Amino acid sequence: DQDPRVHAIKTKIRVVPNFPKPGIMFQDITTLLLDPKAFKDTIDMFVERYKGKNISVVAGIEARGFIFGPPIALAIGAKFVPLRKPRKLPGDVIFEEYTLEYGRDRLEMHVGAVEQGDRALVVDDLIATGGTLCAAMSLLERVGAEVVECACLIELPDLQGRERLNGKPLYVLVESH
Ligand code: PRP
Repeated sequence: DQDPRVHAIKTKIRVVPNFPKPGIMFQDITTLLLDPKAFKDTIDMFVERYKGKNISVVAGIEARGFIFGPPIALAIGAKFVPLRKPRKLPGDVIFEEYTLEYGRDRLEMHVGAVEQGDRALVVDDLIATGGTLCAAMSLLERVGAEVVECACLIELPDLQGRERLNGKPLYVLVESH
């Protein structure tokens, strides 16, 4: 029942134990990018899902949402808006804070990039605790956009990040335990 492309995509994601610190199994998508077929299949699967859904903005989360978001945006005819870590964007911004394992971080978005009535897709490489996607959705909803769905390559379902998304749909290609 699973799309045959998914297995090949999964095998191209390298899992690096104990990076960046002991106990973390890092999901490295740079090895997927080295394989043009698997990279294209990844983009195609998202494009097939979102084409014709009237999505007006793809919001990509720094850093790896900047790799997968733009080709999806171009293919479905949506604008691309980067959601960035603090102090990177030069214009006026709004921001949302979220908790990390140790401490807090924030995402910022340019004022005026997303408008009331925009239909948004949020793109990142991975959902762990869900804090990052939750902050991203808040930014979009604060300016009056409708978040249609969040899309990630990889979900770590054991961390139950999905439950922090307030019922918003999440689409993932690969689960990693
Ligand atoms: C990773 C990943 C997501 C986030 C998911 O980014 O790319 O953006 O963590 O975690 P969460 O679901 O628990 O919020 P990271 O924090 O490594 O930042 P980077 O992309 O700047 O390296």
